Amino acid sequence: MSHAIRFHAPGGPEVLRWEEVAVGDPAPNEARVRHHAVGLNYIDIYHRTGAYPLPLPSGIGLEGAGVVEAVGSAVTELKAGDRVAYAGGPIGAYAEVRNMPADRLVKLPDAIDFKTGAAMMLQGMTAQYLLRRTCRVEPGDTILIHAAAGGVGLIVCQWAKALGATVIGTVGSDEKAALAKAHGCDHTIIYTRENFVERVKDITSGKGVRVVYDSIAKDTFMGSLDCLRPLGMMVLFGAASGPAPLLDSGELAKRGSLFFTRPTLFTYIAQRSDLLAISGELFDVVTAGKVKIEVNQSYALKDAAQAQIDLVARKTTGSTVLLP
Ligand SMILES: NC(=O)c1ccc[n+]([C@@H]2O[C@H](COP(=O)([O-])OP(=O)(O)OC[C@H]3O[C@@H](n4cnc5c(N)ncnc54)[C@H](OP(=O)(O)O)[C@@H]3O)[C@@H](O)[C@H]2O)c1
Repeated sequence: MSHAIRFHAPGGPEVLRWEEVAVGDPAPNEARVRHHAVGLNYIDIYHRTGAYPLPLPSGIGLEGAGVVEAVGSAVTELKAGDRVAYAGGPIGAYAEVRNMPADRLVKLPDAIDFKTGAAMMLQGMTAQYLLRRTCRVEPGDTILIHAAAGGVGLIVCQWAKALGATVIGTVGSDEKAALAKAHGCDHTIIYTRENFVERVKDITSGKGVRVVYDSIAKDTFMGSLDCLRPLGMMVLFGAASGPAPLLDSGELAKRGSLFFTRPTLFTYIAQRSDLLAISGELFDVVTAGKVKIEVNQSYALKDAAQAQIDLVARKTTGSTVLLP
C-alpha cells in the first residue's frame, strides 16, 4: 500500500485526507511513477473548493516529478529507471506513487533536479504558452503581469525580460516587489495600496501595455482592460480573487478594439507534439540559466493542507513543492 491525499467533499483545507491507496500494475499505455516531488498549484485550490467541480471522491494535484518503476506492455518510449516529470491530468498528483498515461510524461533532463522539475512543469509551461503562443512577446513590448512574485509570476518576469520586453508587475507587498525586481520585473506596483491603472498609465506615458496577463480576475479584471493600448490583448488565465465579471463585448470596442482570451494550459499541451515542444523550450531556458525556478517553500506531502492554506493566504512566493 502507498499513500495519497484524497477528498470526499468540496470544502476548506480540512477536507484533504492522507489515505492508504493500492496502486496496481500500469495498464498497457501507462507508466508507474514514484514521485520524488509534487508541485503545488493554485488550480488545486479551485479543485478542493469546488470552484472547478470534480467527481468525488477524488485525488488532487496535477504536477509531479519522479522515477518510472514499471511500464505497461504498449509503452515504448519509457523504461523503468527513467527520470520523468509532468503537468496535467489525470488528477491525483498528491500521491507517493501513481500510474500515469505514458504519453503525458516527459523525460526530465539530468541537469534538472526533481524538486525543480515538480515545481516548474505547470507554471513554466504556462509561462511558455502565455509569452510565446497566446501573445508572442517581442523585444520592445511592454507587458503587465499580476501576482508577479508568485509561481507563474516569477517565471513570466524572467522569461519576458529575456525576450526583450519591459515588464510591469503587480504584487501584494514590499518584500514581493523586491523579489519580482530581482527576477526581471522593471516596474513593480503594490496593488494592495496603489492604483495599478494609474501607475501603468504613468509608466507607459499614457500609451498602455500590449498585453495584460491577469490571473486575479474579480479584483483586477476591469482595471486590466484599462491598462491596454488599442489593439492590446487581455489574457485572463486564472481567478485567485474570484471569477471575473461577465464581459460586455462593447467594453473591448470602446477601449480600442481589444482582443480577449481565456486560455488554459491543458488546451495548449493536449497534443503530445505540443507538450514536447513547450516543455522542451522550458527546459532550454532553465538549463541555459535564463529562467531560474525559485522553489521557495517545501512541505511534507501529508501536510498538503498547510501548503494550500499558505498559498491562499498569499504567504508563498515563487513555487512550492510537496515531498513524499
Ligand atoms: N490558465 C492556465 O493555464 C493557468 C496555469 C497555471 C496557473 N494559472 C493561474 O495563475 C495564477 C497563479 O498560479 P500560481 O500557482 O503561480 O499561484 P501564485 O501566483 O504563486 O499564488 C497566487 C497569488 O495571487 C495573488 N493574489 C491576489 N489576490 C489574491 C486573493 N484574493 N487570494 C489569493 N491570492 C491572491 C497573491 O500574490 P500577491 O500577494 O502578490 O497579490 C498570491 O500569492 C492562478 O490564478 C492560477 O489559477 C493558470
